[in-house]
Amino acid sequence: MRLLNPISLLPSFVILSRYVLPAKAVDLDPTQPNSIRDAAKKVAADLVGMYANVDDGTIVSGIPGLLTYPPYYWWEAGAMFGQLIDYWYYTNDSTFNDLVRAGMIHQLGDNGNLMPSNQSKDEGNDDQLFWAFSVMSATELNFPDPPEGTPGWLAVAQSVFNQLVSRWSTAECNGGLRWQIYQWLDGYNYKNMASNGGMFQLGARLAKYTGNDTYAKYAEMAFDWLIQSPLLTTDWQVYDGTDVLKGCKDADQMQWTYNYGIIVGGAAYMYNYTNANQTWADRLTGFLTHTERLFFPQDQNGVMVEVACEIHQTCDIDQWSFKAYLSRWLAVCAQIAPYTQAQILPLLQKSAVAAARQCDGGSSGAECGSRWFMNTSDGNSGVGQQMSALSVIAANMITEVQAPYTEDTGGTSKGNPAAGTGSDAPETPAFDTITTADKAGAGILTAIVLGSMLGGGYWMIT
Ligand SMILES: *[C@@H]1O[C@H](CO)[C@@H](O)[C@H](O)[C@H]1NC(C)=O
Ligand SMILES: *[C@@H]1O[C@H](CO)[C@@H](O)[C@H](O)[C@H]1NC(C)=O
Ligand SMILES: *[C@@H]1O[C@H](CO)[C@@H](O)[C@H](O)[C@H]1NC(C)=O
Ligand SMILES: *[C@@H]1O[C@H](CO)[C@@H](O)[C@H](O)[C@H]1NC(C)=O
Ligand SMILES: *[C@@H]1O[C@H](CO)[C@@H](O)[C@H](O)[C@H]1NC(C)=O
Ligand SMILES: *[C@@H]1O[C@H](CO)[C@@H](O)[C@H](O)[C@H]1NC(C)=O
Repeated sequence: MRLLNPISLLPSFVILSRYVLPAKAVDLDPTQPNSIRDAAKKVAADLVGMYANVDDGTIVSGIPGLLTYPPYYWWEAGAMFGQLIDYWYYTNDSTFNDLVRAGMIHQLGDNGNLMPSNQSKDEGNDDQLFWAFSVMSATELNFPDPPEGTPGWLAVAQSVFNQLVSRWSTAECNGGLRWQIYQWLDGYNYKNMASNGGMFQLGARLAKYTGNDTYAKYAEMAFDWLIQSPLLTTDWQVYDGTDVLKGCKDADQMQWTYNYGIIVGGAAYMYNYTNANQTWADRLTGFLTHTERLFFPQDQNGVMVEVACEIHQTCDIDQWSFKAYLSRWLAVCAQIAPYTQAQILPLLQKSAVAAARQCDGGSSGAECGSRWFMNTSDGNSGVGQQMSALSVIAANMITEVQAPYTEDTGGTSKGNPAAGTGSDAPETPAFDTITTADKAGAGILTAIVLGSMLGGGYWMIT
């Protein structure tokens, strides 16, 4: 595993190296498992190289579980671990497992509540959810559980879910979760798709894994709130968020791949959990078809595009990672709602071939650019771009791997339905420990967000 050279994160270095040494992009035949595994291995190695200063599987500097180099925030490291767990699932290559497991364990927080004290006062519900998605994947795939004395992956997912339930707020807008957990963060008055859709998806997954119908009831509650709000429409639009101070009357209509991925994934789990209930099938088909129309434009060769910001290269550091989550959940959808395979597999194949063509940079030659529809790499690389390419490439293994586990079919992660409640509930950080920097930092970011109506494509700032 290579040591991280921070310079390699700079696109100029990529361009320079490509200029000096004519690069050959990663090869991929998405119908051949060996080819998919080989391509994924190269791209994953570069992703891990961006994570930390690693030597032979051990972190030699930096804090486990964090993407050390700003401006990558806590949530994105959580998302990255989910991608690396998927990598292991799809390829059976366990090279990074110890590193991934150690990083995740370090960030679990008190009693596995995913509110680690360095982050908690700045956390949004969606930040916590992206970590929860990763511990849920660890649960579903029997990724090695934390050691005795530390809550199991399942217990951590349950803790987050119980915390979300406790934050559900009916005092305004008939319900829903706010974007931010604490009122001192700007963005507290925004109810967003990632938080509410995320609760929906996590609930559906917990229902499927544990068989406990209470989770499905809460998942439905979150979904029902979304459809009565302006955030999900009858013509299958998935909007970003809505302003509590204006009574949640209008939506910020930005459309992002990850929000669609969250909803498509959640609907697929509900479809599977309910054993092919027609209402969920209709919803799934509706959102999936709209996803294809929006994000796989024919004038970009039908490959996945982050239409809101990619073509003009205006995506921020968070947004470059969003295609990873749509790719991830499209694959899951094809697996657990098999009737969607004929629609989804060609999308994943075409996008994966295009993404692999972008991977020709960096010292290892597998650092990926951002615009999959271009014939040669655009040299715009980073953690998000790398995760997105890894996700869509590895997703092509979906028809080769065995189905996720449930508690009834061999899942072994230790759970605790009461995690995150009672004396186990996270303590609210004392307001007098909130520094001016916390408030100002968050304020600046949100001023940009709300000022330009770009909404929740942004998360937290530390
Ligand atoms: C996956 O790897 C493990 C060792 O890490 C091995 O025992 C197992 O047979 C492999 N499974 C497949 C399907 O290749
Ligand atoms: C919290 O921050 C301190 C100081 O930077 C660091 O030593 C510690 O490892 C961090 N803890 C976590 C869980 O990231
Ligand atoms: C089902 O989940 C609910 C909600 O978390 C919990 O209160 C209940 O104890 C769970 N039931 C079982 C049998 O685990
Ligand atoms: C299917 O799910 C919908 C939404 O939850 C529900 O209203 C309906 O009763 C279900 N249909 C059947 C046959 O269970
Ligand atoms: C649910 O998912 C499993 C794979 O995990 C699949 O075999 C099964 O057919 C799915 N159920 C339905 C109703 O599609
Ligand atoms: C990209 O490649 C395709 C086929 O290889 C070719 O038809 C097309 O003209 C190329 N586009 C550009 C912009 O080079």
